[in-house]
Amino acid sequence: MVLVTLLSACTGTVADSGPGCILDTGGGHPTWANFGDPFFLTYCDSCHAETSPNRFGAPDGLYFDTEAEVLTDAAAIRSAVIDNQTMPLGGGLPPEDLATLDNYLSCIGG
Ligand code: HEC
Repeated sequence: MVLVTLLSACTGTVADSGPGCILDTGGGHPTWANFGDPFFLTYCDSCHAETSPNRFGAPDGLYFDTEAEVLTDAAAIRSAVIDNQTMPLGGGLPPEDLATLDNYLSCIGG
C-alpha cells in the first residue's frame, strides 16, 4: 500500500515513493488500481490467484491477488518476468508492459 503522505515528498521529477519511481508528465505513476491489479489479473492470476481452480503447478503461497502480496514477492517477480522472462510461463510480454511493471514495482517500493 503506497502511503499517501509520501505524495508530499513528490518532486514531480523523480521518486514518488520507492527509489527509481518514474513519474509521467502529469505527475502520476502506475498504481495497483490503474496498472497492477489489471496486469496481474490478465497475465498471472489464472495460475497465481489464491482461489485459482487450476494453478498449473504454480507454487502454493505465491499469490498476486493484492498489492501487499506483490510487494512481498517483488524481487522474485522482477527476476522471473523482467530479467529471465520465464513468467508468465514462456515469457513474451510486450516490452512496454515490462517497462511499466518495472516502474510499478519501484513505485510501490519493491
Ligand atoms: C500458466 C500458469 C502460470 C501463469 C499464467 C504465470 N505463472 Fe508464474 N509460475 C507458474 C508455475 C507452474 C510456476 C512454478 C514453476 C516454475 O518456477 O517455473 C511459477 C512460478 C513463478 C514464480 C517463482 C519462480 C521462481 O523462479 O522462483 C514467480 C515469481 C512467478 N511465477 C511469477 C509470475 C508472474 C508475475 C506472472 C504473470 C506475469 C506469472 N507468474 C504467470 C505458473 C504460471
